[in-house]
Amino acid sequence: MGDMSKMEVKTSLLDNMIGVGDMVLLEPLTEKSFIENLRKRFNHNEIYTYIGSVVISINPYRSLPIYTPDKVEEYRNRNFYELSPHIYALADEAYRSLRDQDKDQCILITGESGAGKTEASKLVMSYVAAVCGKGAEVNQVKEQLLQSNPVLEAFGNAKTVRNDNSSRFGKYMDIEFDFKGDPLGGVISNYLLEKSRVVKQPRGERNFHIFYQLLSGASEDMLKKLKLERDFSKYNYLSLDSATVTGVDDASCFRTVKNAMQIVGFMDDETQSVLELVGAVLKLGNIEFKPESRVNEVDESRVKDKNELKEICELLGIDQSVLERAFSFRTVEAKQEKVSTTLNVAQAYYARDALAKNLYSRLFTWLVNRINESIKAQTKKRKKVMGVLDIYGFEIFEENSFEQFIINYCNEKLQQIFIELTLKEEQEEYIREGIEWTHIEYFNNSVICDLIENNTNGIMAMLDEECLRPGTVTDSTFLEKLNQICADHQHFESRMSKSSKFLNDHSLPHNCFRIQHYAGKVLYHVDGFVDKNNDLLYRDLSQAMWKANHSLIKSLFPDGNPAKINLKRPPTAGSQFKASVATLMKNLQTKNPNYIRCIKPNDQKASHIFTDSLVCHQVRYLGLMENVRVRRAGYAFRQPYEACLERYKMLCKQTWPHWRGQARDGVEVLLKDLQIPAEEYSYGRSKIFIRNPRTLFSLEEQRKRRLHGLATLIQKIFRGWKARTHFLLMKSSQVTVAAWYRRYAQQKKYKKTKSSAVIVQSFIRGWKARKILRELKYQKRCKEAVTTIGAYWHGTQARRELKRLKEEARCKHAVDVIWAYWLGLKVRREYRKFFRAHAGKRIYEFTIQRIIQKYFLELKNKMPSMSPCDKTWPARPYLFLDSTHKELRRIFHLWTCKKYRGQFTDQKKAIYKEKLEASEIFKDKKALYPSSVGQPFQGDYLEINKNPRYQKLNSLVEEKIIFADIVNKINRANGKGAQRIFLLTKNKFMLADQKSGHQVKSIVPLAELTSVSMSAQSDGFFALRVKEGTTAAAKGDFLLNSERIIEIITKLHRAGLDLTKEKIQIEITDEFLVQFKQDKVCVKFIQSNPKNGTMASCKRKNNRLLEVTVPSP
Ligand SMILES: Nc1ncnc2c1ncn2[C@@H]1O[C@H](COP(=O)(O)OP(=O)(O)O)[C@@H](O)[C@H]1O
Ligand SMILES: [Mg+2]
Repeated sequence: MGDMSKMEVKTSLLDNMIGVGDMVLLEPLTEKSFIENLRKRFNHNEIYTYIGSVVISINPYRSLPIYTPDKVEEYRNRNFYELSPHIYALADEAYRSLRDQDKDQCILITGESGAGKTEASKLVMSYVAAVCGKGAEVNQVKEQLLQSNPVLEAFGNAKTVRNDNSSRFGKYMDIEFDFKGDPLGGVISNYLLEKSRVVKQPRGERNFHIFYQLLSGASEDMLKKLKLERDFSKYNYLSLDSATVTGVDDASCFRTVKNAMQIVGFMDDETQSVLELVGAVLKLGNIEFKPESRVNEVDESRVKDKNELKEICELLGIDQSVLERAFSFRTVEAKQEKVSTTLNVAQAYYARDALAKNLYSRLFTWLVNRINESIKAQTKKRKKVMGVLDIYGFEIFEENSFEQFIINYCNEKLQQIFIELTLKEEQEEYIREGIEWTHIEYFNNSVICDLIENNTNGIMAMLDEECLRPGTVTDSTFLEKLNQICADHQHFESRMSKSSKFLNDHSLPHNCFRIQHYAGKVLYHVDGFVDKNNDLLYRDLSQAMWKANHSLIKSLFPDGNPAKINLKRPPTAGSQFKASVATLMKNLQTKNPNYIRCIKPNDQKASHIFTDSLVCHQVRYLGLMENVRVRRAGYAFRQPYEACLERYKMLCKQTWPHWRGQARDGVEVLLKDLQIPAEEYSYGRSKIFIRNPRTLFSLEEQRKRRLHGLATLIQKIFRGWKARTHFLLMKSSQVTVAAWYRRYAQQKKYKKTKSSAVIVQSFIRGWKARKILRELKYQKRCKEAVTTIGAYWHGTQARRELKRLKEEARCKHAVDVIWAYWLGLKVRREYRKFFRAHAGKRIYEFTIQRIIQKYFLELKNKMPSMSPCDKTWPARPYLFLDSTHKELRRIFHLWTCKKYRGQFTDQKKAIYKEKLEASEIFKDKKALYPSSVGQPFQGDYLEINKNPRYQKLNSLVEEKIIFADIVNKINRANGKGAQRIFLLTKNKFMLADQKSGHQVKSIVPLAELTSVSMSAQSDGFFALRVKEGTTAAAKGDFLLNSERIIEIITKLHRAGLDLTKEKIQIEITDEFLVQFKQDKVCVKFIQSNPKNGTMASCKRKNNRLLEVTVPSP
């Protein structure tokens, strides 16, 4: 027992407590002791204190070592009151309640500006991220959720006098989880960015962080790209007095932001576009205007220095003239009309600032949407949600304007929901449930909410009304209206209110009104209310932006699309905000709230300073005292009887496992049985109220232990059941297996026996059969032996007989032969005297002669035909006649040839002679020759003496014509041919014109012809060379072409020989010279591809060369 208690070290919020950790335990409870407790704890770095389940957080303004991973582990899965107060305890409670009880949660963080809300929200998020599921995918989701913070803070936070990192927008983030409690994604909603800061900042404050971060952190290269300079003082929109924040390195922040953008999933070009827009906003502030007087005395504004404008246009891809015009004119479109008015300088500045503000706030909204796109849950399954609300805190500045009005209104609403859920709702519930209850007074701020948001006469409604009213509307007309309508309201004060009780109040200037908020009085300057509520951007400007050649800026101004002009006024900024706050409130009411109430210890942003009056003020307006009182008077925990019984019934024998009666009675029995003191609980109508959380925790503890026991029991029974069923299954399996096995074994044994029997049987049968077989074989062999012996015996006898017979026959034959020889011998002896010598030789010769005779006779009968072409010849009968046979064959051939020749006429003989001569000249020398062999030489192809056309020519010649045909005479100038009649007689040859048929061109006596040249190819070109010095030589040699070249040359040759007894020289070569008058020209023959034509063609190549292309065979 002792060991057990040692092991279970119970920690509690009461251990090592500084002051009181839970204000509920504060004794005595006064405002003084309350503040004293806070101060004591704050001085000991205990910045968190509970009021029941509400966490009070005091901003330490320095980093404390209480957010380490060890701390996270310490608070993980521990009961709320188990450890000293910490924001982690609240986060853990909320997360577990979400995961285990399936209740959507919201974490409401309130407090004034600089009280530590944003930090608190980040702590909650990082705690939840640390304790929820792990794994690559989940980690990425977490990382993206966490990294959305630096991005949004850079664009939406700024240094104010209250807070160096003040959120200038409201943020509500839903983190979505799956059933296991693993994060799936998130949705961020943003509320009204304080965009007036873009163009003007109060003294001591800065513009949004991103401007400074960009200028300090961007590389030179990037600045150049964005056409920016590093010097803050160059930009009108950056106030100079507090350009840097102590302890903040804007440059390194810039890198953090860029890195965060990358993690969240911004593409490089998206980041670039965003920075381009930021740069453009900065540069917009530098555009200045100057008046230009017009004739009709209306001032018209002009852009002073166009360089800046030009650069902006280049950066955003806008046509410069369009933007310039939008700064000088304003087009108002009514239903049909379009009126364009000029802007004066003031209006131009207004337009410029409106554009800068709009550009920036639209960019911010785009960023939020873009982040949402990245972090949205990728599943459609049901999600559990934890909402974290970090809205701008209550603000009181020296000069408060529309923005502060909106911010403070929002805080009023949050206070309202706090009151609703903690004070009012709780008290009402006690009454409803009939619990004895003394009412606790608290201030309900719903009156203030009503003053602001009432639909008929609330301040916002009136502002809207004023904005929409026709006629001149100014901020002062708005104030007048307020004065009329709200003057009687207790929380509204103004100089002009009807009662005029403030007429002498000099702290209340004329252009102001004051609202007594739950957190204090705030003086609002009405200047700018109307404009800011209208949030007017001249359509010319939005259209100019829409026309930009920059996808991001274009997408930011869909209202600039002329096709989608909406003549209806857009809802005012105030009404938009009111609507979004209303939806937020509705959303929060559906969730289980967890409160963190942030308190600011001093106004100097200093650590260690605790200003009593300031804290006291916050404690008062936050209603913390009332909160404690209600807690103390009330009960920490309540639950319907059914749920309570269901949860704890296992702690008592009577109620476990089933209670048959009323749930309330069951709970009564249960609590009695557990011996819980009666003052610790009360019975309501439908719920049981437990006063002390500790009671509840002890119940939970017992339940947990009991659950362990029950789990063991269930396990035990289940294990028993499982083992039994398993055993039964095994047993029945065993029986089945055994049966099957036995059957199988018997079958196997039977089969073995059976096959053994068969084998034995077969051996016996075999043995018997073999025995019979042996017997039979023996009998058969005996029979066969008898037959064989018989056969051999017969054989022997037969052979003996045959031998005897043969002997006999031989003896007979020998007798005959001996007898014949004897007779021959006798005859020869008788006739020897009658034979002559040499008779043998004569017989031999006779025989030979007979043989030869026979050979010739046979040859005569087998003679072949007389045709010289017939090569057949009978076969040789005897070898010794071989040479004779061959000789006879030759002689016969010669004889048939001679016979054949003998039939020729003289004319035919001459023809053959000519052919023979042609063969001598051309055979194996000219390729054309073989084709000419079969063609007879006709000589006169033109039939000169018969054809009347040539009558005249014929008469001119007188001699007998040996050859006449048309040839081509080659023109030496171009290698082309001209047709000529070629005539050959026995003394000369002539060339006559073919066209006329009788005009003689040249006559050459054969005696003057020296040589003929031609190629060895299949062409018909030939040159006739004439003896030098003769009359014919004057014209030079002839280069002619004829298909009948073989015939012509043969005839020429023959005639020449007949005439002069000298041979004309015939030269066959592929390259020869021809004398044309004075020049010698070379004729060259070239073989070409037959594709180029089947005819030889002649071409003049140059002065000295004629080239004849001959198709190769
Ligand atoms: N828990 C904390 N630990 C250390 N410093 C804190 C803590 N909470 C707030 N701060 C400091 O106070 C400053 C303002 O806090 P912040 O959360 O931005 O205020 P709010 O959002 O309420 O206006 C922070 O910049 C930080 O320096
Ligand atoms: Mg903040």
